[in-house]
Amino acid sequence: MVQKTNTPPDSPRELYEIYFVFACVWAFGGALFQDHLIDYRAEFSRWWSKEMRAVKFPSQGTVFDYFIDSDTKKFTPWSERTPRFELEPEVPLQTVLVHSAETICLTYFIDLLLQSGKPVMLVGNAGVGKTILVSDKVAKLKEDYMVAKVPFQLLHHLGYATACVREASREEGRA
Ligand SMILES: Nc1ncnc2c1ncn2[C@@H]1O[C@H](COP(=O)(O)OP(=O)(O)O)[C@@H](O)[C@H]1O
Ligand SMILES: [Mg+2]
Repeated sequence: MVQKTNTPPDSPRELYEIYFVFACVWAFGGALFQDHLIDYRAEFSRWWSKEMRAVKFPSQGTVFDYFIDSDTKKFTPWSERTPRFELEPEVPLQTVLVHSAETICLTYFIDLLLQSGKPVMLVGNAGVGKTILVSDKVAKLKEDYMVAKVPFQLLHHLGYATACVREASREEGRA
């Protein structure tokens, strides 16, 4: 996250601090979600803003609505990075990804993880757009990435196979 391009050596302490705060918010709060009763992200955001006062987030929305603009070094809404949608008539509509503040935010972290060779797993209900986001990302990867697609059913089977093997070894142990 902190790179030479956005935080050159000898940057002021405040700049490291704002990146540190951004990293903490996402490290500890990024996996939170909203269930039927409680929006855990909103709860976290309120708690963070109340307790951690050294670096202030804008008061609108939650701490998760902002990224650090690499030019201004200020918290800026993800929505400002959302590109305008342009329809390309020759591309089939079902493969077209329409970006939103959320896809932009996810893409930002996916890019960081990919750059550092870390695995990425998207978790979410059926139909929220995981497949289309990954497909779009994979299609736009540069040539220095090798792409292999593994059907998800195979993973189900792998899980099932491991369970069988475990069961079998337990049986053996008993015999
Ligand atoms: N951001 C998006 N832009 C365009 N289409 C979307 C977007 N998110 C979801 N869809 C559409 O919704 C449907 C379900 O998306 P999909 O990626 O298959 O969801 P998931 O893999 O999370 O179950 C697909 O038809 C997909 O094209
Ligand atoms: Mg899917």
